[in-house]
Amino acid sequence: MDKLQGIHQGLNRAYQAGETVLRGQGSALDAVCAAVEVLEDDPLFNAGRGAALTADGTVEHDAAVMSGDGRGGAVTLSRHAQHPVDLARAIRDRSPHVLLADPPDDIVADWGIGLADNDWFVTPDQREHLAAVQARLRSRQHGTVGAVALDIHGHVAAATSTGGIENQAVGRIGDTPILGAGTWARDGVVAVSCTGVGEAFLQGGVAHQLSARMEYGGQDVAEAAQAIIDNEIVAREAFGALIAVTAKGRSVLVWDAPVLQAAWREGDKIHTRI
Ligand code: GLY
Repeated sequence: MDKLQGIHQGLNRAYQAGETVLRGQGSALDAVCAAVEVLEDDPLFNAGRGAALTADGTVEHDAAVMSGDGRGGAVTLSRHAQHPVDLARAIRDRSPHVLLADPPDDIVADWGIGLADNDWFVTPDQREHLAAVQARLRSRQHGTVGAVALDIHGHVAAATSTGGIENQAVGRIGDTPILGAGTWARDGVVAVSCTGVGEAFLQGGVAHQLSARMEYGGQDVAEAAQAIIDNEIVAREAFGALIAVTAKGRSVLVWDAPVLQAAWREGDKIHTRI
């Protein structure tokens, strides 16, 4: 199987994992976590095992979850949790905090999350890629993974997970774990997950801005998302994309530059785009 086919299949599996939860009347939050876990397990995506490497060849994961009732959890610089999205979920559900940086392994294990040496996340493919980036033979690549969902109970949720930017400085934190920048959900309005150059999404307050434009400005989701990509991302000479689902069940993909790989359903068919 070639790489492109593998990516299509990974997207398809992730979509199905989320959809299975929703069809079983599960929550939007469980659905987005199930979808993102699949992508974290797949070394073809920039999350979990196979994520982008820092400048010193290690992996530092960022992840966030948020449910439309306003409760979120996030982790940054995570070095050992096999599923960073589950760690973000545990921080939401099991701690009094919203954002933790690389929590101690014994706490992560107590929360029932599998641990691995940092080397376990480093794949030969990513080592090669880092060497090429450092030798300036390739440009930086992004590929944050995310999911948004609306459940049968009318709640929305978003989850996002990433290894960040290839060759990033050790300790660099992007938009993914910052609620309102790369991840956001508000019942009655929208859930959104972003990918691209995190610095632009952070400075543009992108995910919350989409929600605010819709909630307070009455804007259409697609128009608002396109305006934000133009005004906050392209205007900063960056690139990026977002996926969103509204409280009425309308989903949109908006992108500038080829950073958006996505899966969605139309009728009987699951579509994938890479
Ligand atoms: N959008 C992911 C990052 O910049 O880390």
